[in-house]
Amino acid sequence: MRKGILRALYQAKGYISGELISKRLGISRVAVWKHIQTLKREGYIIDASPKGYKLISSPDLLLPDEFIGLRQKVYYLKEVSSTMDVAKKLAKRGEEAIVIAETQTSGRGRLGRRWHSQKGGIYFTIILRPRIGPAHAQIINLMAAVSVARAIRSLFNLEAKLKWPNDVLIRGKKVCGILAEMEAEMDVIKFVNLGIGINANNPISLYEEGATSIKEELGRDISRKELLMCVLNEIEKRKSLLGEEIISEWKALSSTINKKVRIIMQDEVVEGEAIDIDTDGALILRTDKGIRRIIAGDCIHLK
Ligand code: BTN
Repeated sequence: MRKGILRALYQAKGYISGELISKRLGISRVAVWKHIQTLKREGYIIDASPKGYKLISSPDLLLPDEFIGLRQKVYYLKEVSSTMDVAKKLAKRGEEAIVIAETQTSGRGRLGRRWHSQKGGIYFTIILRPRIGPAHAQIINLMAAVSVARAIRSLFNLEAKLKWPNDVLIRGKKVCGILAEMEAEMDVIKFVNLGIGINANNPISLYEEGATSIKEELGRDISRKELLMCVLNEIEKRKSLLGEEIISEWKALSSTINKKVRIIMQDEVVEGEAIDIDTDGALILRTDKGIRRIIAGDCIHLK
């Protein structure tokens, strides 16, 4: 119901009478008033006058009511261990949802690292059920990275680029990290939980060397809900694209290809020139000992 009230306030672009809202939503004017009070308590500034209600400003919280028109259910948490934990339970129950948190106490990064998740950043996990085999799952990571880079470019005109496999960089510094957790059977994926962390307005801690935020790049706060909505739309657009379309978009945004790189794998470190990625998103390296195909690892750009 609050979603309906917010929608009416947004659409009105001025005053809208309590009576009109109550008619539209089929609730009493007292009920409208009560919902308006709740919105005010959440940080919405709403003017009430004899002409009705007018939305003056809304808080930059990623509240589910703000995300109008999404197919999936949105779960919103002020604080959580990790959105990945919640999404896993939901995915196992068969839900297709988006889990958003304002902060995480145990944010997880790739390769067992920690993901600092202070207020001001964007932290969410989206549950996907792609119809591809687990061997091609890397495409999902690449698709997410392309979506985030495209959203940042279109909203802020910043030159967001990609580092293999799925980091989004601005001026060579990391602005977004992506973590995919998958449950699969032999040849079918049950779900992929795509966890995305974007440094939006959050301060970058001393521990995060080589990181930046959109705020730092622009010198001003940004609207996190606008960015998140844009990222979700970009993901929705690409969800059912073919692997080759994602790969070619990824290559166009890549800052890894043609660079000298060091790849740190579990039991090996390889250096060489990144010359391509293949149809499954594996990195193709030219090394002293010949061509190598790397499926997973930590990639460091060398000068
Ligand atoms: C990386 O190491 O680059 C991946 C970072 C992924 C962070 C996001 S924030 C939302 C989701 N919840 C987590 O605990 N991790 C991912």
